[in-house]
Formats: sequence, structure tokens, C-alpha cells
Amino acid sequence: MKVMVVSAISRESSTCFVLARTVAELAAAHGVEVDFTHPVNAGLPINDGTIAWDDPRAKAWQQRIAAIHAHLWVSPEYHSGMTGGMKNLFDHLAKEPMRGDVVGLFALAGGAMAALNTLNGMSVVARSLGAWVAPEYCAINSEEVKAGLDDAARVRLERIVATVVDTARRLQPDADTDTPGIPF
Ligand SMILES: Cc1cc2nc3c(=O)[nH]c(=O)nc-3n(C[C@H](O)[C@H](O)[C@H](O)COP(=O)(O)O)c2cc1C
Repeated sequence: MKVMVVSAISRESSTCFVLARTVAELAAAHGVEVDFTHPVNAGLPINDGTIAWDDPRAKAWQQRIAAIHAHLWVSPEYHSGMTGGMKNLFDHLAKEPMRGDVVGLFALAGGAMAALNTLNGMSVVARSLGAWVAPEYCAINSEEVKAGLDDAARVRLERIVATVVDTARRLQPDADTDTPGIPF
């Protein structure tokens, strides 16, 4: 099974990147192959309406996504939503490559609203792409990441990672053997 972990921020010192790395480590511990990415790594142009679906950069990204069974998205709250850099990754996809996949959501905020708008927005986008969204979200204050995650935070992260991997295995039982799963 292949799990993509997306950091909405490409800067390695960002709390988003650090949290995404932690999420990737938790996922790897479940015996899955992890594909870690972020906007710079994805190498996509901004989809401003002038980029063809079959642009080679977009096609390579669509093929990369098609090989994935589950996704773990990590974004800071930027004006109550995921970052534009992260949204752009999904604006190069039609429904096919993510249909039937499972998505787990993690968002960081500096403010008291704890990134709930961002999580809800990410959920709408994931569902629009035909994916199943894990029912439990993780909203976390970026100061918690800066201070070093405590055990309770790690348990919260692990619960979501475990749910996503387990659900993806049940929905796509052949994912671990790389043969076609349930046709959605
Ligand atoms: C453009 C921008 C918009 C932001 N909007 C919000 C916001 O709406 N709500 C909030 O709680 N924090 C907001 N923040 C704070 C970020 O969520 C916070 O800086 C981030 O989680 C920490 O990321 P870093 O470690 O990459 O600096 C915003 C930050 C930036 C740069």
C-alpha cells in the first residue's frame, strides 16, 4: 500500500513540514510505502486556467497520485483555509486518480479557532475528488509543534493515521499486493 503525505509548506523549518514528517513516520510504522511531497517537490505550475490537463508536469503528477491508496494532508491555516500552494496540487486533478482513496486531515493554526475552518475546507476538497475522509480530524496549534509534540498529541496523530491505513486496506484489499482493488 502506498500512502502520500502532503506538507502544504515546502520550508523544512515550518511547523507544517515538521508535523508532516512526524505523520509520515507514523504511517511508515504501519508497513506502508510513504510518498512524501510538498508544493516544490510536486513541481507543478500554478493552475491559472492556462495549463493543459496533459501538460507533462500535470500528467506526471496525476500518474503519481494514481499509484496512491491513502493520503495524509497537513496544512497551516492561511486565512481560514489550506494554503494556496496545497490547493494548487489538487487543481491539476480530475476525479479519477483519487476516487475511492482515503484521506486523513491535519491542520495547524496560530489562533484560537484551532484550524476548524481549514479542516472543513480540506474535507470538502477531498470529497470533491471522490475520496473518503476519515471522520476524526486533527487541529493543532503550531506552538505545540514548536515546543515538541507531547504523548497526548502523538496519540491523536496516530489514531488518525491508523484509521486511514486500516480503512484504505479494507476498501482496497489488494493494495498491499499491487493488484487492482475494488473498482469504484
Ligand atoms: C498568510 C497567512 C495567513 C494566516 N492565516 C491564519 C488564520 O486565518 N488563522 C490562524 O489561526 N493562523 C493564521 N496564520 C498563522 C499560521 O497558521 C501559522 O503561522 C502557521 O501555522 C505556522 O506556520 P510556520 O511554522 O510555517 O510558520 C496565517 C499565516 C500566514 C502566513
